[in-house]
Amino acid sequence: MRGVAYDRFGSSAVLSLREDLPDPPVGPDTVLVRAHAAGVNPVDVGIREGHLAGAFPHHFPIVPGWDLAGTVEAVGPAVVDLAPGDEVFGYLRRDDVQWGTTAELVPAPQRCVARRPGSLSFAEAGALPLAGLTAYQALTEALDVGEGDRVLVHRAAGGVGFFAVQIAVALGAHVIGTASPRNHGFLRDAGAAEVLDHAAGPVSGQLSEPVDAVLDLVGGDTLADAPRQVRDVSRIASVVDPAVNGMGGRYVFVRPERHDLEELGRMADAGQLRVSIARAFPLERTAEAQDLVAGGRVRGKVVVTLR
Ligand SMILES: NC(=O)c1ccc[n+]([C@@H]2O[C@H](COP(=O)([O-])OP(=O)(O)OC[C@H]3O[C@@H](n4cnc5c(N)ncnc54)[C@H](OP(=O)(O)O)[C@@H]3O)[C@@H](O)[C@H]2O)c1
Repeated sequence: MRGVAYDRFGSSAVLSLREDLPDPPVGPDTVLVRAHAAGVNPVDVGIREGHLAGAFPHHFPIVPGWDLAGTVEAVGPAVVDLAPGDEVFGYLRRDDVQWGTTAELVPAPQRCVARRPGSLSFAEAGALPLAGLTAYQALTEALDVGEGDRVLVHRAAGGVGFFAVQIAVALGAHVIGTASPRNHGFLRDAGAAEVLDHAAGPVSGQLSEPVDAVLDLVGGDTLADAPRQVRDVSRIASVVDPAVNGMGGRYVFVRPERHDLEELGRMADAGQLRVSIARAFPLERTAEAQDLVAGGRVRGKVVVTLR
């Protein structure tokens, strides 16, 4: 099959378009998906550079990408609720790193995919899963955000942050987002009640009063300042820095979950969750897409499209 892959860790120069990748195996509870779009995330860059080599077994050649939208091509014998022709989206993190989403065919454990929301294009649906699930699981499970909570989202204009702002608003929260001034209008359009400039000194000094919950997507000094931003440190969540656990807060690592994908789809169809695509690249330009994400200044999401 056709796809982008790499045989060793390194810069984006290790990525190449191949015409002769083997077709992936389809397990008993797996669906084979013909990919239309693959969202690009910072973790794709981290994996390519070898930073997760100690966390998951890796098998070369590696096809990068954990985000997917596409059409079911075939199903394993234990799959009863999806059939060839169904349109799906999903977060394809498995226990091993090998078969990613920037290839024509992607094997997907059925728990990792859900039906594509009707209101989202393939490109939008492919950009949503990893970042959307991260935001949703952090806000609902780690932070228990509800009606009337004042919630501070750091790095609010990026992939995770933009979804977090909208999901927190949908949960009834008063949302404060941090971003550089060029993105403040973007965040207000998404429903943020207040916006702060992360470059204008510690955020604790910019708040009129402490908030009820903090979602940290930055780590480092930003996380170190978080206890001064919140009333109760148990309502600090970080997806970047496990050191948050030692502060009394909670580290979140996103997991594939069909039910949560369905909830994101419901929010999208209800008009509560919008996907903003900063740039779409064709498959053969996956390296450029990853370089753009690695630069750390993307507003919304970057996606690779295959058809
Ligand atoms: N643990 C998990 O399960 C998990 C899941 C998803 C992501 N992550 C991690 O979470 C982080 C965010 O991911 P992402 O996909 O949202 O990243 P992203 O889309 O690449 O973030 C880009 C955005 O970051 C903003 N930004 C950069 N530095 C900032 C700062 N100091 N304060 C506020 N905004 C800043 C930029 O906005 P400006 O130009 O306005 O500064 C840009 O819009 C990454 O480190 C990623 O690896 C972890």
